[in-house]
Amino acid sequence: MKGIIFDLDGVLCFTDRYHYAAWKKLADRLGIYFDEKINDRLRGVSRAESLEIILERSEKEYSPAQKAQFAEEKNETYRASLEKMSPADVTDEVRETLSKLRERNIKLAVGSSSKNTPLILEKTNLRGYFDAVSDGNNITHSKPDPEVFFTAAEFLSLAPSDCLVVEDAVAGIEAGIAGGFRTAAIGDAVRCGKATYALKGISDLLSICDD
Ligand code: BG6
Ligand code: MG
Repeated sequence: MKGIIFDLDGVLCFTDRYHYAAWKKLADRLGIYFDEKINDRLRGVSRAESLEIILERSEKEYSPAQKAQFAEEKNETYRASLEKMSPADVTDEVRETLSKLRERNIKLAVGSSSKNTPLILEKTNLRGYFDAVSDGNNITHSKPDPEVFFTAAEFLSLAPSDCLVVEDAVAGIEAGIAGGFRTAAIGDAVRCGKATYALKGISDLLSICDD
């Protein structure tokens, strides 16, 4: 394993909770049923695609302009939560694992669908652990398309077969497999049973990378 590409939301920090809370606020305002199970389908997918999944339960049809406004509204709620983040929002386990992987000369990248990645990395002080960042600002197709991981591997100058993708999203594991990467599932992604490795915690990566 020469490189590891980490998803951000739900893997390196718990911003997946803030995504859920922000979508829930919008869904409640629009009178659309939304719960954590539906929210699991939004993991790894873009903001616009997430909104379409939520609107599947809407009785009303909305115009593209209204949808754009809903996505903006959700993002404003979400960014208000991000503004309150600090380095304390990243666990010691995550920081220690990243440090130890770097000591082993494994190249590290972020591979996230989120356009808010730069803000989160800055607020949590995580940017320094990574050799490269590929995110929602440099891709045209979000997971399960492998584009974000291909770009991350390219930034690291590594082949997909030399990299491991770490994901909490089923769509992310599917993207990794489609791109020819090995995959490690954590949290919700474990249930699909498709990943090369199932992690109980992020520090399990240290024994995987001993192989
Ligand atoms: C992914 C999240 O990381 O980013 C998704 O898992 C989210 O839930 C997507 O929709 C896009 O995020 P953003 O911050 O650009 O709206
Ligand atoms: Mg995620």
